Amino acid sequence: MAAPIKVVVTGAAGQIAYSLLYQIASGSVFGPDQPVYLHLLDIAPMMGVLEGVVMELADCALPLLAGVLPTANPEEAFKDVAAAFLVGAMPRKEGMERKDLLAANVRIFKEQGQAMDKVARKDVKVLVVGNPANTNALICSKYAPSIPKENFTAMTRLDQNRAQSQLAAKLGLPVQDVKRVIIWGNHSSTQFPDASNAVAKIGGVEKPVPAAINDNEYLRSTFVTTVQKRGAAVIAARKMSSALSAAKAASDHMKDWFLGTGDRWVSMGVVSDGSYGTPRDVVFSFPVTCSNGVWKIVEGLTIDDFGRQMLDATGKELAEEKAEALEVCKD
Ligand code: NAI
Repeated sequence: MAAPIKVVVTGAAGQIAYSLLYQIASGSVFGPDQPVYLHLLDIAPMMGVLEGVVMELADCALPLLAGVLPTANPEEAFKDVAAAFLVGAMPRKEGMERKDLLAANVRIFKEQGQAMDKVARKDVKVLVVGNPANTNALICSKYAPSIPKENFTAMTRLDQNRAQSQLAAKLGLPVQDVKRVIIWGNHSSTQFPDASNAVAKIGGVEKPVPAAINDNEYLRSTFVTTVQKRGAAVIAARKMSSALSAAKAASDHMKDWFLGTGDRWVSMGVVSDGSYGTPRDVVFSFPVTCSNGVWKIVEGLTIDDFGRQMLDATGKELAEEKAEALEVCKD
C-alpha cells in the first residue's frame, strides 16, 4: 500500500463536501490503493457541524482513510497537501449583487492562495469549485506564485456531465456512449456547451452527434440553454443548489487529472494560453486530455461562426471578472 497523501477539502461542513468526502475517502478519486489523510477546512462557527462530519467519516470505517484533521486555520489545512478541493465559499444572500459576491469570494481565495504558497506541496493540484470558480482559481494562483499556474483549475465538469447526459437522453443512448462534448469558457450562464465535435456510439458504430441529432436549432438553442440553466432548475426543484452531482463532478475532475484520461476529452477551467483566440491569463474551460498528472488542451478543432460568438462572449465575461477581482484584491 502506498503512503497516504494529504488532501484538503474546504467548505468541509457544507453540502457538496458531505457527498464529496465519502468519494475521496472510499478510493473513488485517487484509486483503491491510495490511502488519504483528509484535512477539513471550514470557518470557526462551523466547527461544531464539522465535528459531526468527522464522526460520520469514522463511522464509515473506511480502510483508505488514514486520518482526519478538522480545522479553521488555512495554514494548518493546506500544510503539505497534494490535492486541494476548494469548495468553501460565501453563498449569495438575498439582495446581494453578483459583484458583491465576487468581492467576498475572491478575498477568500486570495487568502487561501497565500496560505498554499507558504505551506502546500509545490506540486499540489488545486480544483476550485466555489463560485465564481474560474476567477477564484485565477486569484488563488496569482497569490501562490511559487506553485505553477498549471496546477490551478476550475470545475466545469458538472456542466460537461450535464451536457453529456442531455445528449444521451436525446439520442436514447447510455451516457457513456456519448463522447467529446465540450464546455468552453466560464462556469456561468455564458458558458458554451458545444456538441459540434461530439460523437455517439449508435449500433456499435461511432457517429457525429450533429448528424445523428440532425437538428441545428436544438443543438444551438435548447441544448445550450438547458445546460446553462440546469443549476437554476435544480435549485427551483430542490430549494438547494446541486450537491450530489457537483461532488461527483469534482471527483471525476480530480480523478482524471491524477490518473489520466487516455484519449477521452474532459473539460477543465485552466489558465488560458490564448488557444482558440481566447483571452490569455484568465481561467477558461477548454477540452483537455490528462496524462502523468499534466493536462493538455486539445488542439486543432474548428470553431464555426456561432462557436466564435459564444467563445468571445464568455471570454469577455471572464476578462471583466478578472479586472473586478484584481481591483478587489488590491486592498
Ligand atoms: P454550502 O453553503 O453548503 O457550503 C459552503 C461551506 O463553505 C460552508 O460550510 C461555509 O461555512 C464554508 N465556507 C465559507 N467561507 C469559507 C472559508 N473562508 N473557508 C472555508 N470554508 C468556508 O455550499 P455548497 O452547496 O457546498 O457549495 C459550495 C460552493 O460550490 C458554492 O460557491 C457554490 O456556488 C459552488 N458550486 C459550484 C459548482 C460548479 O460547477 N463549479 C456547482 C455547484 C456549486
